[in-house]
Amino acid sequence: MHNEEFYSSSSDLIIRLAEVPLLNQELDDHGDSSLKTHAKASAPAKVILLGEHFVVHGEPAIVLAIDRRAVVTAKARSDSKIFIDSEDLGISGFFIDDKFYHKKGSIKAKEKLEPIYVVAKEIIRKCRLKKGLDIKIKSSIPIAAGLGSSAAVSVASAAALCSLLGCDETDDDIFQIAFNAEKLIHGTPSGIDPAISTYGGILWYRKSEPIKRLNINVEIPLIIGNTGKQRSTGELVAKVNNLRRRYAPIIDKVINAGGEIVKRGLKALKDGDLKTLGELMNINHELLCALGVSCEELDNLVHAARKAGALGAKLTGAGGGGCMIALVSPEKIKDVADAITDAGGEPFITRKTDIGVIIEE
Ligand code: MEV
Repeated sequence: MHNEEFYSSSSDLIIRLAEVPLLNQELDDHGDSSLKTHAKASAPAKVILLGEHFVVHGEPAIVLAIDRRAVVTAKARSDSKIFIDSEDLGISGFFIDDKFYHKKGSIKAKEKLEPIYVVAKEIIRKCRLKKGLDIKIKSSIPIAAGLGSSAAVSVASAAALCSLLGCDETDDDIFQIAFNAEKLIHGTPSGIDPAISTYGGILWYRKSEPIKRLNINVEIPLIIGNTGKQRSTGELVAKVNNLRRRYAPIIDKVINAGGEIVKRGLKALKDGDLKTLGELMNINHELLCALGVSCEELDNLVHAARKAGALGAKLTGAGGGGCMIALVSPEKIKDVADAITDAGGEPFITRKTDIGVIIEE
């Protein structure tokens, strides 16, 4: 039994772990012999090339996995508590019988750690685990910036826990577990973020269709520009839902046009026609402005990148802050990166990765 001090979610009283009830012992029929001592998994971040928000409303989107990853390490505990520690966020805490007790950071840590708890609970249920868990998150993905950091963490957590407990879950199961966690936290997401973190590569994603991997032979040279302004995907998705309710005949047309852009974008990608792809990215951005999900900081970076010679530029992800992407021919990379810096953003060059979720140890 550990004896750490920590803070109750219902009051700020310091209580002792020994006074907190254990998890329901009815689940305890998992044999210890099948447990590894620890497991480590990682999953990639993403950029949506075309189609964010429209994808929530049934249109397709094209999304790329990029070379930044969330890494999750899991160990079984000798008690039945679930301890989650996010090194980058500087927060940690225990979940015990669905109650949260923060250790590092404030009680607000609960909101950020809860998706991981939801994933852990589901895997504990499936694998009939007898022990608690220590889950440690380390990520090189900027947080709340439109690059899918929360989905990458959920996917990597699901994979690490399945590996630790010896559960035979497929990538499709991992996707579904992470997607269910995202739904609980972010309202009505499309599932595109957990899909790309699970499968990697470039995906054609549409809610009503099986997920399709695209084999694109052309390089897609992208610079990401981070505004540094954090925002909530759930709130931005809700904002568009609300606008659609109020102006259905107008917003439906914008969403429809968004879908048409994605279809043409696929053809441009297959033809290796980056000029057309860039133009489509520009139109995509303006449609997102019409939906009210851009902001001054994003528009400044987008316009600066275009002015410096980008083939196209748009916000990526939910908007409201976070990141934009610019499609850039090699000779313009420095000019565009400098222009993003001058406009107040942080540029970084990114590469596509085909590696989705993997077990590292
Ligand atoms: C978030 O990365 C992209 C959105 O389209 C939401 C979603 O599809 O779940 C804004």
